[in-house]
Amino acid sequence: MSALAKNYNRRKIAFKRGKGSFLYATNGKKYLDFVQGIAVNSLGHANPYLINAIKKQSKKLWHISNAFMIPEGEKLAKRLTQKTFADFVMFQNSGVEATEAAVKVARRYFYSIGKPNKNRILCIKNSFHGRTTSMIYASGSKKMTEGFGPKIDGFDHFKFGDYKGLKKSISNKTAAIMVEPIMGEGGIKVIPNWFLRDLRKICNKKKILLILDEVQCGIGRSGKFFSFEYAKVKPDIVPIAKGMGGGFPIGAVLMTKKAATGINFPGTHGSTFGGNPLAMSVGNAVLDQIFKKGFLKNVKKISKYFHLELKKIQKKYPKIIKEVRGVGLLIGLQLFKDQTKFIQKLMDNNFLTIRAGDNVVRILPPLIVKKKEIDLAIKIINKVCEEYKK
Ligand SMILES: Cc1ncc(COP(=O)(O)O)c(C=O)c1O
Repeated sequence: MSALAKNYNRRKIAFKRGKGSFLYATNGKKYLDFVQGIAVNSLGHANPYLINAIKKQSKKLWHISNAFMIPEGEKLAKRLTQKTFADFVMFQNSGVEATEAAVKVARRYFYSIGKPNKNRILCIKNSFHGRTTSMIYASGSKKMTEGFGPKIDGFDHFKFGDYKGLKKSISNKTAAIMVEPIMGEGGIKVIPNWFLRDLRKICNKKKILLILDEVQCGIGRSGKFFSFEYAKVKPDIVPIAKGMGGGFPIGAVLMTKKAATGINFPGTHGSTFGGNPLAMSVGNAVLDQIFKKGFLKNVKKISKYFHLELKKIQKKYPKIIKEVRGVGLLIGLQLFKDQTKFIQKLMDNNFLTIRAGDNVVRILPPLIVKKKEIDLAIKIINKVCEEYKK
C-alpha cells in the first residue's frame, strides 16, 4: 500500500525517463506527453541546455539565503524587467506563493499610501490561483474550500463573462482585480482582449491595481511571452511560475515601481528558498531559449497549425467535440460529455493529456514541439474520436 496521502487520483503508470515530447514508462511503452508536468516543462523533458545549466550550477552553489547577494537572481530579475512591463521582481518557489505574494503586494501598496481599508481582491468565480488557505477563497470554488473553514475573508467574485456584475462588485474597499487571462484549470477559457483592455480602464478609473495571473498561460505558452500582450494591456502585478523553471520549481511576482511601493522595504516579505542560485540558473537558461530570435514566432506558427488540425477534427466529429479552445500551446478540447473516458482512450493509444473544468481535455505540448509530433497527436485524436463514436 502506498504511504502517499490520497489527495490525488493518480493514473497507474510511472515513468523512468523522458526526452523532449516523449516519456518512457516503466511498463516499456513510449508516450507522447502533451501534459508536460501541467504546462511546466516548457522546453520538454531532459533538455540538454537545461541539464548543462543545472549541472554547472550544482557544482558551484545550490542555496545561500536572501541574506546575501545572489548574482544569478540579479541577472534573471534584470532580464525579466528589461523584457516586460515590470520594474521589480520578487522570487518564490511555486505558483501559489506567487499569487499569494501578488495579493500581499497589492494590499501593502494601499497600506503604504494611507488607505489600509482598501484591501479586498476581486476575482472570477471558480478561477484557479492555487491551494493555500487564502488562495482557495480567492478561487471561490465550493469544491476547493469545502471543509477548510474558517473562511478567509478579503475576496469578492464576479462570474466569467458577467461584465456588468464585475462593475457592481467593485467597492471603495477593492484594492485589486486578479484574473487569469486564460483560465487554465477552469477549462481553457480565454478572456477576450477587449475585456482585458476594459479591465485596465476600470482599474485606472477606480484607482485600483490589475493583477494578471500568468502562472499557467505565461512564459511563452500563448506564443507571446505573456498572454496579455495580445490585448496590449499593461498590468501592475503579474505572478508567474510553471514554465519559468522548465521543470525546476520557481515562482515570482513581477510588479511596476508604483505597485512595489509598499513591499520595497526589508522584512515585508520573504522566502527561504525563493531565488536560490540553482533555480535562478535554470530560470536564466529557460530565458536564453525563449528569448532566442524566432522562438516565440515558432510557437505561434506551430500552434496555429495544431489549432487548424483540431478544428478539422471538430468538424468531422461535431457530436463529440463541442469547441476547440485556447491560445498558442495552451489548448482545450471541450467535449459534450465528461472527458474521463476520452482521456483514458488517448492514453491507451500512448498519448497523454489532462483534464480541466467544463469537460475539457487539456493539451499542453512543450514549446519545442515538432510538427511530426503534432501530426501524431492528431492521428491519435482522430482514431479515438472514431472509436468513441461507436
Ligand atoms: C493560474 C494559476 N495560478 C496559480 C496556480 C498555482 O500554482 P502551483 O500549483 O505551482 O502552486 C496554478 C496552478 O495550476 C495556476 O494554473
